[in-house]
Amino acid sequence: MSVTLNVNGVDHTIDATPDTPLLWAIRDYLNMTGTKFGCGMAMCGACTVHMDGSPIRSCSTPIQMAEGKKITTIEGVESPAAVAVKEAWTEIQVPQCGYCQSGQVMSAVALLEGNPNPSDEEIDAAMSGNICRCATYVRIRSAIKSAAKQLG
Ligand code: FES
Ligand code: FES
Repeated sequence: MSVTLNVNGVDHTIDATPDTPLLWAIRDYLNMTGTKFGCGMAMCGACTVHMDGSPIRSCSTPIQMAEGKKITTIEGVESPAAVAVKEAWTEIQVPQCGYCQSGQVMSAVALLEGNPNPSDEEIDAAMSGNICRCATYVRIRSAIKSAAKQLG
């Protein structure tokens, strides 16, 4: 069965069952490997992408739910908030091993797109579903504040 997904502004028709996880479609069918597999159970945030601008866990989202929606991955995120977040991430050298970081960036961008000047509490709430085994949390918060300043 075929399903059409709009990913980063381009329609892709793939031959897969409707319950295929969106993460599988992105990585294995579309060969976009920036989005990572961590837990597979919506518990770590490594697989975070945007669906119509909201952060979702692609490991636990069947492709039938993504049909007709705009999916954005780390490869295609380019809003002003995304540019500011990526610059801040580089400047502050947030990543350690890097595995969780595309998910962290996608959650941070979604936060700043909805709230360009978040408080510490709002940052913690928005980022609480993104786990980092390397504990880069302090740098993540600094980078989000730096990006917010740049946007303001
Ligand atoms: S891999 Fe999706 S939340 Fe962990
Ligand atoms: S940078 Fe290593 S898991 Fe986050």
